[in-house]
Amino acid sequence: MKMDEICRRLLAWYDRNKRDLPWRSTSEPYAIWISEIILQQTRVAQGYDYFVRFIERFPTVEALATASEDEVMRAWQGLGYYSRARNLHAAAKQIVALGAFPNTYDQIRQLKGVGDYTAAAIASFAFGEAKAAVDGNVCRVWSRVYGIDQPIDSVHGKRVITEVAQTLLPDEYAAKYNQAAMEFGALQCTPHSPNCAECPLADKCVALAEGRVEALPVKTHKVKVTPRYLTYLYIHNGDALLLHKRTANDIWRNLYEFPLIETDTPIDSDSLFLLPEFVDWHENLPEYLYKGGVGGVKHVLSHRVLYATFHELVVQGDLPKCDDYVAVAFADLDRYALPRLIERYMEKEKSR
Ligand code: ADE
Repeated sequence: MKMDEICRRLLAWYDRNKRDLPWRSTSEPYAIWISEIILQQTRVAQGYDYFVRFIERFPTVEALATASEDEVMRAWQGLGYYSRARNLHAAAKQIVALGAFPNTYDQIRQLKGVGDYTAAAIASFAFGEAKAAVDGNVCRVWSRVYGIDQPIDSVHGKRVITEVAQTLLPDEYAAKYNQAAMEFGALQCTPHSPNCAECPLADKCVALAEGRVEALPVKTHKVKVTPRYLTYLYIHNGDALLLHKRTANDIWRNLYEFPLIETDTPIDSDSLFLLPEFVDWHENLPEYLYKGGVGGVKHVLSHRVLYATFHELVVQGDLPKCDDYVAVAFADLDRYALPRLIERYMEKEKSR
């Protein structure tokens, strides 16, 4: 079979350099799907253990579909971008209703949480469909090799790169080619200071020839980062603490957190006591000791920076019963999915 020279070298490079990753030694669509959803916004080093644990905890799509949302969120805790876990759960139910894992790109693309890239990855890895999977790594590789300077976050730029990637794809080796292009972006054609001196595509690379390696790929929008200020009340009595299940339709929906006061500007302890939301707690709590606040915890997400402060209120006697809040014994805390921000605070608390 005739294969483009660039593709031939890419596949040879992959044979020599590929990492042994658990989702690469299976053609099980369920496992591949889980791995791709985890890897959408998570690095391989971090995603690896989550993948292994997730598959152990939910070995089949049926097990995932019948699990409770809390259990799924709990397995996802710490990975961030929690809409992925919610979509995964919803899609598992879709798949069970279908009776089998969908086996074409078009059908896989209908699953919740699955976009063009993920559908192509699953269709090629699990079913050998000849569809190019184009993620950020792949965009970087082809934009450099072919000197494409249309922004990769524009519809047009994405289309140009997808066409290039699709043209290079050898039908018989769709899965290997897609893995190879991604791996090449992750290990060889890295965002900064790639090792062009030892690159098998160096003599073919337009960006290298033109001195534009660091300038490519081009991106248009810089994401606007808006700050949010979160004042958490860590209300406990030594045995149990108050938690609230988030229902707002945002990144932390269905995770549990401390009672929260959110403001547009930073709040110090003095101004905290004047906030109506705090006064509400003050009036409704039984006798308590204010143990002070710790602050300045910064949590950076793709389009937000969160500044969190934590104020400890130690209640004497029983915790109050209030709507929307549950009193959770410290011993049971590991049954609740917490945002990473809260989890980190609790870890520090434990070690004090
Ligand atoms: N990132 C996304 N999908 C991947 C895969 N299959 N292997 C390695 N990194 C990835």
